[in-house]
Amino acid sequence: MRVVRAFVSADEEEQLLSEVNKHFRGKKYDYGHWDGYIRGYRETEKSRWSENNRLVFERLRQEAFGDVDILPRVHVLDLAADGHIDPHIDSVKFCGSTIAGISLLSDSVMRLEGSEGRCDVLLERGSLYVMTGKARYDFTHAILKDDESFFDGRHVARERRVSLICRLPPLFQPGAVSPSSQGVSPTEGTK
Ligand code: OGA
Ligand code: MN
Repeated sequence: MRVVRAFVSADEEEQLLSEVNKHFRGKKYDYGHWDGYIRGYRETEKSRWSENNRLVFERLRQEAFGDVDILPRVHVLDLAADGHIDPHIDSVKFCGSTIAGISLLSDSVMRLEGSEGRCDVLLERGSLYVMTGKARYDFTHAILKDDESFFDGRHVARERRVSLICRLPPLFQPGAVSPSSQGVSPTEGTK
């Protein structure tokens, strides 16, 4: 798990949010059913972006993935101030070995937890995280709710947080090469 601080500038954040806000106008936050793992959110997958915003995603691709193709649609997740994400592993059916996300509007704490222990990661507003390998497959990840959101003994206030997440395509399709032969544990996620 790697975090790049200040990956987007204040201007870039504003440009990205203006497109995101336009999309979500009039949409309510979802407080969900018993079986979901995200509370208090709106989300979409968006492939068309303004030229300036495309440049940000191109930079993200270079930084996080190198010269490979990623899923063309960016997952936009808008978490209300009182929203949170419960621990989960992204399903290997929909997502490959690397997940990269930009955090806008609010700092937050991401908790990684696995049989080897747990690790809290501070995701500052404007930062990029790149989750791959063990962090992707052997640890769950969660975004803590405001009253549990602490880092180094300091409360990290959770305000509205928008994340822009890019993923590699799934490594294997049903009926194709088996996951173990690609060196990947076929951990099943909840998503
Ligand atoms: C997810 C997720 C993290 C984030 O949508 O699966 O874990 O940064 N999101 O919002
Ligand atoms: Mn996830």
